[in-house]
Formats: sequence, structure tokens, C-alpha cells
Amino acid sequence: MGPALKALPKWPPLDREVDKVNLFGMTIESDLPTCVEPDRVFPLFDDESILLARSIVTAPGARVLDLGTGSGVLALAAARWGAEVVSTDINPLALACVAHNAAVNALTGKVQWRQCDLFAGMPTDSFDLIVANPPFLPLPSGLSLFTSSDAGPLGLRVVGPLIRSARRFLKPGGRLLLLTMNFAGREGAAAARIAHEAFNHVTDGVQVCDLYGGGLPVEEFCACFSALGPTTDWLEDLKRHGFDRLSYLLLEARREGRLSHPISPPALRETKFSGSWQARLSRYRAWIERRRLQSGWCPP
Ligand SMILES: C[S@@+](CC[C@H](N)C(=O)[O-])C[C@H]1O[C@@H](n2cnc3c(N)ncnc32)[C@H](O)[C@@H]1O
Repeated sequence: MGPALKALPKWPPLDREVDKVNLFGMTIESDLPTCVEPDRVFPLFDDESILLARSIVTAPGARVLDLGTGSGVLALAAARWGAEVVSTDINPLALACVAHNAAVNALTGKVQWRQCDLFAGMPTDSFDLIVANPPFLPLPSGLSLFTSSDAGPLGLRVVGPLIRSARRFLKPGGRLLLLTMNFAGREGAAAARIAHEAFNHVTDGVQVCDLYGGGLPVEEFCACFSALGPTTDWLEDLKRHGFDRLSYLLLEARREGRLSHPISPPALRETKFSGSWQARLSRYRAWIERRRLQSGWCPP
């Protein structure tokens, strides 16, 4: 499925300290939360990858796609139920990390990996479950932080095409389970609106859980970036699109039909969530500041 293992970079890269998290009796390595290298493998945060990993329930033989796999935490969470998982990413370092994590947890036979952009080269009508925690950090135009997080000024660079395409790659009865932060306005959150358009509103089903139980005003979010330059144009553009707040969502979209490997839906509304907007904003401010100090980084 992927290029030969020897084509992958070395995990961990020289001089990079790794984080090790114990989850479901497995040890999963990734980059440290303090890592600000542009190609970092996404760190494992309780209110993000771990939360989504805990929501994954599959069945032996189920076919799962972990799109944007990073450390492979979601792939391993699915494989532990006996599912056959395909892990994809555009970052070769992430694939080296997932190959390592699958090997040390004796799941190599259950997790295939492949370097690709979104669904490129994937067979249609094939997956019982697609899981994704895609890059969703909105950034002012022209600014770039990490392959793992950059989502463009409207936050939809990856999330938009991912949701629009996902249904074609699901088997009848298959589900997309997606974690994302995105802008919202009078018509609700952009990701939910796109899912309602992309999935059939009569026969399919879309469920959304608003994890913070309320949005963050766009002004407060954009202020995180004010140390880097004026954010007025960005803010005006968001308002022009009708966005007034940011929301953090767990979204499940189901294609009509029946699966031969039925998988239980996650209890989205009962998802226990301990995060807060303030913790999230502090994380983003720390990334920006560390990146600036480390490399004399100066945004355009
Ligand atoms: C937020 S990280 C999540 C990683 C992991 N799934 C987790 O939950 O910890 C997003 C991942 O998507 C990958 N990615 C970014 N753009 C992509 C694209 N166009 N196609 C596939 N993967 C992409 C990044 O390299 C990164 O590993």
C-alpha cells in the first residue's frame, strides 16, 4: 500500500525528544507538545487526539481509513478492535512515526500506511469508518506554522474538501467521524453546513456535538495573532463570510445502508470533555511565541 519502508525518514529524527503516551495498553510516540518544527508529528493532547481515539469503536474485519494519521493514534485505536486500517498523511515523518508505533504495539499487520493528499488514489465505496482530526487551525493569510495544523484563513483548507469527498469513499452504512474547530455564523458551523450539503439530508444522517458548548468570538481568536501584525483585514473577511464565532465540534456523518461489519456509533452527546477555550488559546499563543523565538521567524 505505501512506498517501501526504507523510503521513510527515521523516527524519531536525530536530536528530537519524543513524547510517549500510554493509551489502551499501548505506548504511542509522537512529537512533544513543545515541538515547533514545521514537520512536527502532531502531539497527543487530551482534548484532541486522545478524545477522538476514545470515541472510536470498530469491529474485527471492518475497513477503516485514518486520514491525516500523524502519530497513528487513531489508526491504532481502531486496529485494537481488529479492524483493517489504512493510515494516510502528506508528511513522510508522520508515516515513519505510525510505522514505528504500529510495530512496537504488534499491530503492523493491521495498519497499512500510504503517503497521499486527502483521498488521492483511494478506492471508492470501501470504508466502514473514516476517522480524521485534520489540520483546523485558522491562520491569517500568508502565515504558515505546521503541516499538521495549518488550515488557511477560513479554516477549511483540508476540512472542506475532506467532508465534501468522504461520502464517496464510505461503504453504504459507513461513517465519517471528524474532530474539527471551525468558524460559525447564523447558519451554524461551516463544517456542519458542508456535511449537511455533502450527505443526503433524507437518507443519510449527520450528528454534531459542540464540545465547548458555545463559541469563541472571532475577535478573541484573531487577537491571538495580533503580536504578528494587524488582523483587521482577516477579521473583516470573516465577518463578510458571516462568521462571528469559532466552534469546536465532533461530527459524525453516516451514509445510508447497512454494513457487513456493524460498528456502534459513538455516544457523541455523552462525550466527556474537559477542555476550555482558554487552554486552547494559551496553547496557540505558546506555539507562536516559541516558533518566533526559535527561528527568528517573522511572518510575511
Ligand atoms: C491535527 S494532525 C492529526 C494527527 C492525528 N490524526 C492525531 O489525531 O493526532 C493532522 C494531520 O493531517 C496531515 N495532513 C495535512 N494535510 C493533509 C492532506 N492534505 N492530506 C492528508 N493528510 C494531511 C498532517 O500532516 C497531520 O499529520
